[in-house]
Amino acid sequence: MVSSTSYMPEYDPIAWAAHLLRTGRIVAFPTETVYGLGADAANAHAVARIFEAKGRPAVNPLIVHAAHIEAARRCVAAWPESAQRLAERFWPGPLTLVLPRGPGVVGRATAGGPTVGVRVPDHPLALKMLRHFGGGVAAPSANRSNHVSPTTAQHVREDLGDAVDFILDGGPCRVGIESTVLSLATPVPTVLRPGGVSVEQLRAVLGEVRIRGGSDMGVADSPGRQSRHYAPRARAVAFEARDRCRLPADRPNVALMVLDPQAAEPRPGGQVTAMPHEPEGYARHFYRVLRDLDSLPGIAEIQIELPPDEPRWAAVRDRIQRATSLGT
Ligand code: TXA
Ligand code: MG
Repeated sequence: MVSSTSYMPEYDPIAWAAHLLRTGRIVAFPTETVYGLGADAANAHAVARIFEAKGRPAVNPLIVHAAHIEAARRCVAAWPESAQRLAERFWPGPLTLVLPRGPGVVGRATAGGPTVGVRVPDHPLALKMLRHFGGGVAAPSANRSNHVSPTTAQHVREDLGDAVDFILDGGPCRVGIESTVLSLATPVPTVLRPGGVSVEQLRAVLGEVRIRGGSDMGVADSPGRQSRHYAPRARAVAFEARDRCRLPADRPNVALMVLDPQAAEPRPGGQVTAMPHEPEGYARHFYRVLRDLDSLPGIAEIQIELPPDEPRWAAVRDRIQRATSLGT
């Protein structure tokens, strides 16, 4: 495995990544949300290697990434007017559209299902690589299945090591949590996973939008909604802000994540990590802080203060609940 941290004139890491994809290899690359583990979406063998490298159940479909609207359209069998409006408004960006699968995407990528999630990521390296490659790139988050999503190239290295053929290093991810997944294959557009594009933003374009509600159990067509999908190794527990005073003080094996109006760049060191008090900042750092706390020696439990139950915090609360026993 080779990793590129800086541009070397004698070799272009982006052209190399595209070449590897064309020859059936798997490549980790940065997006604005989290790092993806990519393979040619038209190559069943390459796609199978993704599931293998991640230890991902074959029933969990992958998102296909494209360089622009035209390339995304080639991955789907239908392109309703609503998709065009959403794509024009939010792409490149953290919105995945679930539509009928097109012939250029192998069934393995969609877990054999009739639909495919497509998106155009908002990251210069990802876009360049996708333009070079030309076709669709199937890519889940580049972590081991059930582990915390990676927001740096180092996280990918830690999780996947030599199982990945190449890592394109684009620095830390700007959004920090995964894209919103919106199904346009349902009678009413339905959010399957909250993310960087809010339900309010979607409603402003589409009118009626449903949210897949209730417990995550039995949701066969979006297994990412299963609880503990993003769980760290230490036990993670969530608590509402009003219960903060009831927490036992100074337990040496417990790390706390709390909201703090003063926090900007949270750096876990001691027992308490102050997290940004606004959703974008919180999301940007959440997975990294979880990983950092998880790797501190002696930490057996991570207690996470939930932000307010308000629409603007929906995606962050969703990820906290998945990372903790609250999601079960
Ligand atoms: O931001 C993101 O979406 C990142 C970056 C790499 O693009 N990708 C990502 O992929 O989070 P992954 O595989 O970790 O999560 C994809 C989610 C899963 O919950 C999966 O079940 C759902 O999207 N999904 C994918 N295709 C689907 C489909 N055809 N129907 C319903 N859900 C789908
Ligand atoms: Mg994932």
